[in-house]
Amino acid sequence: MPATPDPEKPWGGRFTAPTDAFVEEFTASVGFDQRLALQDIRGSIAHACMLAECGVLDDAEFTVIAEGLEAVRADIEAGQFEWSVKLEDVHMNIERALVERVGDVGKKLHTARSRNDQVATDIRLYLRERIDGLLTALRSLLDGLVALAEREADTLMPGYTHLQAAQPIAFGHHMLAWFEMILRDTERLRDCRRRVNVLPLGAGALAGTTFPIDRERVAELLGFDAVAENSLDAVSDRDFAIEFTACASILMMHYSRMSEELVLWNSQAFGFIDIADAFCTGSSMMPQKKNPDVPELVRGKSGRVFGHLVGLLTLMKSQPLAYNKDNQEDKEPLFDTVDTLDAATRAFAELVPTLRVRRERLRAAAAQGFINATDLADHLVRMGRPFRDAHAVVGAAVALAVERGCALDELTLEDYRRFDAGLDESIFNALDMDRALNARNHFGGTAPAQVRAACIRARERIARTLD
Ligand code: ARG
Repeated sequence: MPATPDPEKPWGGRFTAPTDAFVEEFTASVGFDQRLALQDIRGSIAHACMLAECGVLDDAEFTVIAEGLEAVRADIEAGQFEWSVKLEDVHMNIERALVERVGDVGKKLHTARSRNDQVATDIRLYLRERIDGLLTALRSLLDGLVALAEREADTLMPGYTHLQAAQPIAFGHHMLAWFEMILRDTERLRDCRRRVNVLPLGAGALAGTTFPIDRERVAELLGFDAVAENSLDAVSDRDFAIEFTACASILMMHYSRMSEELVLWNSQAFGFIDIADAFCTGSSMMPQKKNPDVPELVRGKSGRVFGHLVGLLTLMKSQPLAYNKDNQEDKEPLFDTVDTLDAATRAFAELVPTLRVRRERLRAAAAQGFINATDLADHLVRMGRPFRDAHAVVGAAVALAVERGCALDELTLEDYRRFDAGLDESIFNALDMDRALNARNHFGGTAPAQVRAACIRARERIARTLD
């Protein structure tokens, strides 16, 4: 008996029975890959143009196909496109819409191409665009951090180790530490973009095509820097998605650290900063509350991105060459990673310039934690004491100050002379907080002059990374 192909399915020819309804739903990706529609159309037009230039299509056919695809694009943009699960994915939905519009000539579009190289091309085009958007947002975050660092270059605060007050630092220096993290992430993302921007199209299903194609031309039309070297690798490689998600994970890890500090600093216990009302929300029960929801959410969202990284690695683990349907599972984690990273970056870029720094509270906290103890010990070393002896003398002074509930500069010279008879008034200079801050005056140090110089370099480094 002759087969009756399912008229809905572009691949229905070798089938004699329709697809099970559940299987149709189960295997479809159109619910999420329709996000790639514009990239799919762009890729198809470039492919058809190259086929015409190589004589595989004639010019009239190319014109009809290109105009038809533009019309489909207009429908999609106008929200007038009906996506069908029966047509499985974004590629077959668009191809069918083209054929419905322009007739049989539309069926020639898929010459010398497979959905395998098509989808890999679409994702790369999509991710490249989103990386460019991210780089722009990262630039504004970096600019904001440098501006805040410059504004608060002289602002004294306690620096911490183990979340215990440790040594005096400038608030601006702390902002520049954040800057370093985010600049490294920006460099990583730029580097990742180079490996995203490679053209798979022309790899066909896995082994290339028998038609005389010009892959360099397609790369040129689509703005790819290079053409994938190996057809098997081209259709199966998802390293670029894993790499992007790894970059995103490190970024989100950094955002989570910044968030944690913002939440702590914004608490009543610290009171170091005020996060603007626009970035906070209230409590439905407790009228006094103003919660730092935005940094809390960013901190929380880091989890899903780390999860996507592990998910994508596991997706690719043990896959034999070349394309496998498993790969369809790459899109949702990748899309969610891009969206989450984009939102978090935007949140930080907008929040940072609005931060109100409570300088008096920072100074008061700096006066409390004995953060000038190292400075006093260093001073004793300069007076000729071995560092270990100096450490012990200052340790004893700290114990006395703890007992009295006072600061180191509130002990008297007589108190100090009990621990080291040779001490003089100069120790009080050494205990001066601003002096201690300014004394850390070397490349990479926290002295306000260094912070200002680092801000100038930071602006140049942003330009070098992103121009
Ligand atoms: N929807 C598929 C994906 O996202 C497109 C490629 C399918 N290719 C195939 N031969 N079934 O990976």
